[in-house]
Formats: sequence, structure tokens, C-alpha cells
Amino acid sequence: MIPNMKNFEDLKAQQLLPPEAYTSQEWFEREKDELFGKTWSFACLEKDIPEVGDYITVQVGNYPLVVLRDRELNVRVFHNICRHRGAKILEGTGNCKTGLKCRYHYWMFNLDGSVRGIPQKDVLFSDCDKANLGLKQASMGVFKGMVFVNPQAEPDQSFDQWLDGIKDDAWEEIGDEVVVALEINYEVQANWKLVFENANDGYHLSYLHEHTLGGPLTNHQKTVSYGLHSCYQGSNQYYAEILKKGNTTLAQTLYAAMDKKALKEATADVAPEDYEEFTGGHDLYFMFPNVVVSSGALGFMYFQIIPVAPNKTISKFRFFTPPGYEKDYYKANNILMPNPGVKTRVGVNEKPIKLSEVEGGFDSKNFQVEDMWICEQMQQGLKSPAYEAGPYAPGTGEGPITFFQANVLSFMDKEKLNEVI
Ligand code: FES
Ligand SMILES: [Fe+2]
Repeated sequence: MIPNMKNFEDLKAQQLLPPEAYTSQEWFEREKDELFGKTWSFACLEKDIPEVGDYITVQVGNYPLVVLRDRELNVRVFHNICRHRGAKILEGTGNCKTGLKCRYHYWMFNLDGSVRGIPQKDVLFSDCDKANLGLKQASMGVFKGMVFVNPQAEPDQSFDQWLDGIKDDAWEEIGDEVVVALEINYEVQANWKLVFENANDGYHLSYLHEHTLGGPLTNHQKTVSYGLHSCYQGSNQYYAEILKKGNTTLAQTLYAAMDKKALKEATADVAPEDYEEFTGGHDLYFMFPNVVVSSGALGFMYFQIIPVAPNKTISKFRFFTPPGYEKDYYKANNILMPNPGVKTRVGVNEKPIKLSEVEGGFDSKNFQVEDMWICEQMQQGLKSPAYEAGPYAPGTGEGPITFFQANVLSFMDKEKLNEVI
């Protein structure tokens, strides 16, 4: 059983992971088995596979998996490898209503994973029992329309244990009331954990993003934890204050453009002396190990952090809005995140954008590019033999980074974890 971490506030903010956790191939390979192979990862939305036979393939650690909609319209997950000689069966996304057909020797599987047919079965495999040759099951769970998968058929930690108290009203069910307004993918030359930690760093908002996001100081932020996950809450009142001044990019774009009224209503009853206490409306759920979910005045968004190599990560952002608002949403977001790679179709870029392709680089006035840039700088710094971690900001500032690292250690190095908690 994987231990539940204590609240992040009980941990002294500090760097817990050694530099090789971000740079070495050996650590990266071990993570694939010992971390991603044993926990729950986000795979897709239920609404991404609405029809019988719709499927999405995902790679979780060393495990190729396929998530599909079966004949009874249930979502199921299988190991996407043929039970004959192990070829990967499906690729990408699509529909396999007529069954999963392996292209090597045409073994065929039903949508419930059972074997449908084996060519020349009677001649070549007369003594084989088809019942033992079905696709291997992995595990899945659905929360608010998001499908999470675990490569193990019998996970150490059940899906409910993994969710561990994330509130039922954490965000609205992601159903047909929303559509994708914007999808942006970046290829970052940095380890996936640096990308996750940067998103979790409350201290940098006012500095790295001074001229773009201009986020709140740490005394306007709060973090709470649920099991392995944490939830960041920015203060609405902070945004109300800057909105009154009417001169910041964030206020002008997000709230002025989209939801001024909702913000005013949300903050109307808050007395100035309670400003620092007041939170809500800007919840960011950092779901261990690698997806960030946000639901606020602007709608729903998730940010998936996909490891590719020790020093390479795909950052995938998908933003959702009610149908009909896609263009407004795109316009509002485009001020904060002028999209460096997407000029034609509204909102969707399938080819990940690299920093080297972004016009202006760090100075492109895109806060996501600023984040990508700093992660790449961190990756280079951590490789230096002269690297030595300094002190970390307590509380929401950099405490959630320590919390995340402690959770990584709970899979990767329990001994070291016991030394620090
Ligand atoms: S490997 Fe799939 S049919 Fe032979
Ligand atoms: Fe950032």
C-alpha cells in the first residue's frame, strides 16, 4: 500500500529530490515502472470517446494502453499489446467498432478484450484455449468526466483511495455542455517534474510573469492537500483589487473580457480586512503525478505533463468553454498567451511548439512561454556539478514543490522519504 502523505504544510519547504532525478536516464527508466506503472494517470475525457468502438491509445510509463468504449457504452482499458507475439495493436485515436485487429497475423479481439478469432486456429493452435488469450486488463476510474488509468489490474491503491477526498464539487462534470476552445502543445527541453513543480510554484508568479500574468504575491494564495494531490487557490479579492485599478493584463484580459460581473458578485461581501483570507474561484488542482486541472470563472482547463525523456516533456493544454464562446475565449486567452504556432485554425495546434520556434522567445509576452523558458534554464542549471539547492519559500510559495517531491519519493525512494518526514 502506498502511504498517504501528510499535509504539505507539515513538511519543511526544501529540495528533496537529487539532481539526477531530473537528468539521469536510469532514474527516468525507473520512474516508468515504479511510479507511472503503479499509480493513476489521466488518459482522456469520457466525452473524447462517445461512440461504441471509439478509442484512444496512451503510453503510461512502459505500458501501452488503450481506452475504449465497449458495446454497452462502458469505458474500458486494456493493455494495447497483442497476446500472440506482443505487437502494439492500435495507434493514436480512432474507432475499432468491428474489433481490435492485430496487423501482424490478424488475431482479432472483441471490445471486451476477449479473442474473436485466430487465423487457422484449428490447424495451428488446436490445443490453445482462446479464453486465456484475451487482452490483459488494466484499471480505470472516472472522476467528473475525466478518465484515469492504472496499468495494474489490481492496483496497490484503489482509484478512490488515490482521489482521497478531492471534493465532489471540485469542478463541474466535463460533459457536453463544454467544447474545446483552445488546445496548445509545447515540447519543453526539461524534465517533466520541473514542469510540474514550476506550475506548483506560487513564489514565481509576480516575478517571472511580472509583465504577463502578473500573478498574486504569496500572501494572496493558499494551498490545501488531498492525499497525493494539492489545490492552489488564488484570492479573488486580489483580482478584484487589480480590476479596480484597471491596468493589469490579467484583469483586462480574463475578467474584464469574460466575467467581470461574476467576479464582482463573488467578492461583494468580502471586507477589506478579510482580503487575505478570501479565496476561491481560481482553484488549480495538482493531481499527482502529472495533470493540473483548473476550473474557474473562465471555464475548465487541464494541463497534462507528458514525460518523453529525462530532458524532454510535452505540455498539453486543453481549454473548454460553452459552445458558441470559443472565439471569445480564444481572443481573451490570446492576450495572455499569444499563440506562437497557431495562426489559422482557431484553437488547435497538434504539433508541439518548441521554444526555438517561438518568435521573441522569453520576450514573446506569453506567460506559458515564460514558464517553458525557465524550465529549460532549470534543466541546464541542474546538470551542473556546481548545482546545490538553496532555501525554499515556506507555505504556498514553494511548499507544494516539496510536497510533490515527497510523493515522488514515496514511489521512488521510501528510505529517503522516511528521513525527511
Ligand atoms: S503479434 Fe498480433 S497477431 Fe501475431
Ligand atoms: Fe508560471
